Amino acid sequence: MNKGYKVYTTFRLKENSKELLKIKNSNLHLLQIDILKSNSLDIIISFVNSIKIDILIHNAGTFAYKAHKVPDLDSKVWLDTLYINSIFPIQLSLTLKHNLMKSKIKKIVFISSRRGSNSINIKDSYRGRYAYRSSKAALNSAAIALSQDFYDDKISTLILHPGRVSTKITNYDGIPPKKSALNIIKLIENLNIKNTGRFLSADTGKEIDW
Ligand SMILES: NC(=O)c1ccc[n+]([C@@H]2O[C@H](COP(=O)([O-])OP(=O)(O)OC[C@H]3O[C@@H](n4cnc5c(N)ncnc54)[C@H](OP(=O)(O)O)[C@@H]3O)[C@@H](O)[C@H]2O)c1
Repeated sequence: MNKGYKVYTTFRLKENSKELLKIKNSNLHLLQIDILKSNSLDIIISFVNSIKIDILIHNAGTFAYKAHKVPDLDSKVWLDTLYINSIFPIQLSLTLKHNLMKSKIKKIVFISSRRGSNSINIKDSYRGRYAYRSSKAALNSAAIALSQDFYDDKISTLILHPGRVSTKITNYDGIPPKKSALNIIKLIENLNIKNTGRFLSADTGKEIDW
C-alpha cells in the first residue's frame, strides 16, 4: 500500500489475523475465506470481480502436522494439504487470468518452500514432513507448467522460498516477517517475462536447485 497499490487480501481465522484486521486503509480490501470450502473460488471471483490485477501472490499454506511422519500419515490431511498448497494456487491463477491480462505488469508469485526442493531434501538431515514437502514439490512442478502456458500472454511467474521466517509455521523462529516481505518485494520488482519460472530464495536472491 505504501507503494500506491490497492491490496485485495484474504484471511481465514479472525483470531490469527488480529494485526491485519486492525489496519485502517481505504486501499486495503479484506475477504475471509477457507480454501477448503467448496465455493472458495467463487467467493474470490465475486470479491475481485472485474478489477485489473497487477500482481497475484499465493501465500496461504499449511504445514500438515497430521501427515508429518511415519507411520502416522493421515491421507485426508495429506490430500487437503495438496489442495491448499499445490492445486488451489494454480486453479486461482487460471481463474484470475483475465484480471491479470488487463494489466501491463502481469506477475504471479507462488510462495513455496525450499522443502519443495528434492535436491536440498536428499542432502539435508531434515526428515519427515511428507505432506508439506510433497505439496511444495507439486506446487513447484505445476508452477513451471503454468509459467510455460502463460509465457505467450507475457504473464511472468516467480516461485519463492521466503527464508526462515518467524511465523506460526516455524513456531516463531526466524527472521521478522517484514524483512522477508522486503526481500520478496525486491524480487517481484526484478521479475519480468525474460526471467519467468525461476525458483529463488528471498533471503539470498539466488536460484534454488529443483
Ligand atoms: N515461515 C517460514 O519460515 C516459511 C518457510 C518456507 C515457506 N513458507 C511459506 O510461506 C507461506 C506463509 O506461511 P507463514 O510462514 O506465514 O505461516 P502461517 O503463519 O502459518 O501462515 C499461513 C497462512 O495460510 C493460511 N491458511 C492455511 N490454511 C488455509 C485455508 N484452508 N484457507 C485459507 N487460508 C489458509 C493461514 O490462515 P490461519 O492463520 O487462519 O490458519 C495463514 O494465514 C506458506 O505458503 C508457507 O508454506 C514459510
